[in-house]
Amino acid sequence: MTDVAGFREAIGHFATGLAIVTAPGPAGATTNAVTSLSLDPLLVLACLDRGSRTLDAIRASGRAGISVLAAEQEDVARGFASKASHAEKFATVSHRDDHGVPLIDGAIAWLAGPVHQLMPGGDHEIVVIAVEAYGAPGGEPLLFHRGAYGALPADSGA
Ligand SMILES: Cc1cc2nc3c(=O)[nH]c(=O)nc-3n(C[C@H](O)[C@H](O)[C@H](O)COP(=O)(O)O)c2cc1C
Repeated sequence: MTDVAGFREAIGHFATGLAIVTAPGPAGATTNAVTSLSLDPLLVLACLDRGSRTLDAIRASGRAGISVLAAEQEDVARGFASKASHAEKFATVSHRDDHGVPLIDGAIAWLAGPVHQLMPGGDHEIVVIAVEAYGAPGGEPLLFHRGAYGALPADSGA
């Protein structure tokens, strides 16, 4: 099975969190392809579709932010996954400008910094961000698994 639907079904078993990747503009997109990359230097990466307008804004500004969504922010994830205008997306959510990028209020953690490297990855672009600042107010994470949003079980001890 090598079709796109089968690929999505297979990789969809890899449970992830969800983040809003942002850039000055403001611009932002719901993203689950976010990974810690390096400790020295501090690097984090996000994979963005070449059609992503947020990717365009990241290229233009050379900066990016990551807001890790809380369990109660499923509506934010749905809103930022749309092709509504960025003005409309940001009008629906409380946010602030911090370290040169827009960050989503209520996120359980955030990271921000300049673009370290942009690398091609098929129909996506791998955006490597040099982490200049971060914070972790904490809270329960929003999860994504097999196409569904979820949260940790109440008794998970997390
Ligand atoms: C759960 C979920 C995860 C997503 N993860 C990614 C991702 O990792 N990379 C990506 O480019 N798009 C991802 N998307 C799709 C983008 O959010 C969507 O294409 C969005 O419209 C892009 O917005 P933009 O054009 O304003 O940047 C995801 C969507 C959903 C619902």
